[in-house]
Amino acid sequence: MRIDFVTLFPEMVLPALRHSILARAEQTGIVSFAATNPRDFATDAHRTVDGRPCGGGPGMVMRPDVVGRALESLDLMPGHRIVLTDPNGERFEQRHARDIASVDHLVILCGHYEGIDDRIRQRYASDVFSIGDFVLTGGEFPALLIADAVVRLLPGVLGDPDSLGADSHSDGLLSYPQFTLPREWEGFQVPAVLLSGDHGAIARWRRRHALISTRRQRPDLFCRARLSKSDVDLLQ
Ligand SMILES: C[S@@+](CC[C@H](N)C(=O)[O-])C[C@H]1O[C@@H](n2cnc3c(N)ncnc32)[C@H](O)[C@@H]1O
Repeated sequence: MRIDFVTLFPEMVLPALRHSILARAEQTGIVSFAATNPRDFATDAHRTVDGRPCGGGPGMVMRPDVVGRALESLDLMPGHRIVLTDPNGERFEQRHARDIASVDHLVILCGHYEGIDDRIRQRYASDVFSIGDFVLTGGEFPALLIADAVVRLLPGVLGDPDSLGADSHSDGLLSYPQFTLPREWEGFQVPAVLLSGDHGAIARWRRRHALISTRRQRPDLFCRARLSKSDVDLLQ
């Protein structure tokens, strides 16, 4: 997969991808990351990328002609997706990450100031995503978050692909709590069942705690979850 970030601040984005699992994914050729700066496509001496909002009001808006030229400079592959980061967008969720992970070319547009002139959304965006009900100064962190969620789903990126199935949100529930050694730390114990070697009992304990966490932390997800008869028994 190729991921292009269109950002006024490539130095906020590319270095963050050069670590750990994402860096390995790039080194092994599963993904490649690149950034394009709209400022390189400004035509005036000041390399202007923004203008005052039409109709008045505070702040500045990124110009569609400059951002459009930056987008047109990319060699878009067939089936590409162009994602706009925007607090007005649909809330980005795991199902979107799964959907996008199937394409070969992803472009993520990072807004700044009061955002990008809406004609860019109209002309180019295949998806408009918000990462939550709050406003950040720019789209760079949302873009990184979206890229990370997508890349870890690509085949070969995680050492043990089974960990995807155990993740929160993989089946509509949150994950169960995790423990490692030592068995006792500061008076807190690892639950005995996890050290028992009884795989059936461990699976039941994990499922029960996934159900309990989801019901407690995210009743909205719990209401939507499809529970089996054994799930109901586990909860009782
Ligand atoms: C300061 S924000 C613009 C906010 C805009 N004036 C509004 O009220 O909706 C600048 C840029 O940050 C990014 N951004 C900020 N918050 C975001 C969020 N919750 N989700 C996705 N992108 C966000 C977008 O790229 C946006 O264009």
